[in-house]
Amino acid sequence: MNYFDYKDDHLKSEDIFITNITKEVHTPFYCYSAKGLKTNFNILKDAFKDIDTKICYATKSNSNLSILKLLQEEGAGADVVSVGELKKSLIANIDPKNIVFSGVGKTKDEIEYAIVNRIFQINAESISELYVINKIAKELGVVQQVGIRINPDIIGETHKNISTGGLSDKFGIPYSEVKSLYHDKESFKNIELSGIAFHIGSQIHDIEPFRNVFIKTNDLIKEINKSEKIIKTIDLGGGFGVDYEDNHREFPIQEYANLVKNSFDTKNFQFIIEPGRSISWNTGILVTKILYIKKHGEKKFIITDCGMNDLMRPALYDSYHKILPLSKTIDSEIISTDIVGPICESTDKLFSSEEFYDVKEGEFLAILNSGAYGSSMSSNYNARPLVSEILINEDNFTTIRKLQSFEDSIAQEIK
Ligand code: LLP
Repeated sequence: MNYFDYKDDHLKSEDIFITNITKEVHTPFYCYSAKGLKTNFNILKDAFKDIDTKICYATKSNSNLSILKLLQEEGAGADVVSVGELKKSLIANIDPKNIVFSGVGKTKDEIEYAIVNRIFQINAESISELYVINKIAKELGVVQQVGIRINPDIIGETHKNISTGGLSDKFGIPYSEVKSLYHDKESFKNIELSGIAFHIGSQIHDIEPFRNVFIKTNDLIKEINKSEKIIKTIDLGGGFGVDYEDNHREFPIQEYANLVKNSFDTKNFQFIIEPGRSISWNTGILVTKILYIKKHGEKKFIITDCGMNDLMRPALYDSYHKILPLSKTIDSEIISTDIVGPICESTDKLFSSEEFYDVKEGEFLAILNSGAYGSSMSSNYNARPLVSEILINEDNFTTIRKLQSFEDSIAQEIK
């Protein structure tokens, strides 16, 4: 599915030519398609329509309030990993009953805030955390629903930096240790330990590791629920792979949903999924202006006004983002080309290819598939401001985050 495509050689999304936005908005800026976000969310909703499932959007992939609000209106819950993400989800009107809180290092204050706000489930990732949640719930005089995130020791094939399901990864409680915890009602009187959760990594294309983790988890649930139904909620995590390289590797979401049906007794459990990237990735681009073009011998450098502080993914994971000119020139040049940013680091390289369009200084480029883990991972490195964000909705576009002013970026610093 393409939400940004050429019409008469000009890049367009919904009814808006992106070049028209550059006439009003300073580059670099992120630009999203409302239709894209809704469509991607509803593809997942549709695949899971026969299964009692909360779709808790992984807000870490893009937590702009307007995007959270738009997804909430489509029926999304939220998967949050910090009190900040939790507060943003609540501001966006996401029902606390549809919020799960994951993460290995929740502070006492974060746990207290989650319990006071009656969120659906806290996913505990260590035995110590279970004791802390129980203690805080006791002090508040409530019983909090909790899931245990298991570490299944199953690795999905992905970049090593976004794999989470192995025992050498910091996530979850080892599979072998969790059974006794579910039966330890004496230690956890203020916890309703009725959830089990896992997330084996991100950007997983193959269904096989999911099959393996489903089988392993289902066996565990059967053992735990033998004499009494303790586990009622199964959180399947996120991680559905997306196609950054146009090689038609779409994640088989319907096959995945069928696998859930075939692997678990779906009539007797409630499910949670935590998709992030598969909702937001291709619904956003980063628009940048070409500042300079230079050659070092046979190597061409296109220097843009956006850098690794705006989009970390290429520097951090060597990830590929297709780059297109906003206005297409017919010619492409066969020459080794690096598209780089202004940051003083050699890793500030957005793209590298043996061929690229014959673009000129002052023209604009779109870095595609930047909707997930783009803006949400950006920083003020090199004392650069956080850029603005634009949302296209049919034939109009609105600013959903203003360009950070220099004064705002230094407001917390003491002279
Ligand atoms: N649930 C949990 C517990 C997670 O840790 C994550 C992602 C998700 C859900 C959502 O995964 P998704 O559906 O988006 O794959 N910054 C990296 C990705 C890090 C993912 C971290 N956890 C990147 O840019 O590729």
